[in-house]
Amino acid sequence: MGAPELKGIFPPTEKRHRPGPFSGASSLIKDSFTLNTLLLLGAFIQAIITLILPARYAILLPLILLLRALFFTIRDVRSLPRYLESQGVIPGRLSSQLPKPSYSSSSGGSPFGSKPASQSLVVFHLGARFQHPLGPLSPGAKELGDIFTSLNKELLVKAKEYGCLDVSLWNGDERDSVTTILGVYYFRDLEGLNRFAHDEMHRKGWEWFERFKKEGNNHLGIFHETFEVRKGGWEGIYVDMQPVLLGNGSLCVREEEEGREEWVRTLVDAGKGWGGSLGTQFLRMGRGRDGKQGWEEKE
Ligand SMILES: *[C@@H]1O[C@H](CO)[C@@H](O)[C@H](O)[C@H]1NC(C)=O
Repeated sequence: MGAPELKGIFPPTEKRHRPGPFSGASSLIKDSFTLNTLLLLGAFIQAIITLILPARYAILLPLILLLRALFFTIRDVRSLPRYLESQGVIPGRLSSQLPKPSYSSSSGGSPFGSKPASQSLVVFHLGARFQHPLGPLSPGAKELGDIFTSLNKELLVKAKEYGCLDVSLWNGDERDSVTTILGVYYFRDLEGLNRFAHDEMHRKGWEWFERFKKEGNNHLGIFHETFEVRKGGWEGIYVDMQPVLLGNGSLCVREEEEGREEWVRTLVDAGKGWGGSLGTQFLRMGRGRDGKQGWEEKE
């Protein structure tokens, strides 16, 4: 008897999960200032209010806002399970696996098959660095940010065409105000990534950047990195986590039995402990307990 099929946490769906809008802008603006600057700004606004209003009233606004924050914090601490659920935390140990391009649901078949890491994948890093004293408020930064946001939206809207699994945005931690933004992307293959790179939206963005550079601007840097990862060469474990990175991915696959397309999310149950079939790093890579099985096979 063969190994049991890998079981997804979420059932397949007709549409991609939560194609949500990107809300990175507000945190980017906030993080454009150092903590010092933000505190000084607050102190300055408060000083002006004290000059205009009687002291008794001047204290009201900050007091109300502080009490409000205190109320919500105490409420969330006291009902932690509900708070974690509202954050999308999934209790337990989960692993990410890629569904096959097509599968048959007959006799309990799963889109993941029974062998972990049986698909190859492409990891792509795309980032920008604001190397100007004004950081993300410097000339061109807004345009670059807008291009970045529309590219990320487009990637999810056309996720099926590009074979794009997930898009997530991260801020660098090099200084106390943000200087580097990074997008982490997962694709099924390089062909999908190239389809995206040659699409109109990306080309327009690239043309804007070239023009901007020709005008002699060198305070905005951009970079990318590509990793093509062989099957059996990757794995992931997520413990008590909100779905993140590859674990937040989904792919459109074909279900042969009914002849329909469905979206399959990457998260599978990794079992309780280290003893389970996805209990160790090597096992999640489909290489057996000793890390050698099947890894050298070409196809
Ligand atoms: C997970 O994916 C959804 C849909 O693409 C997105 O709205 C959400 O922000 C993602 N969560 C994280 C933590 O990246």
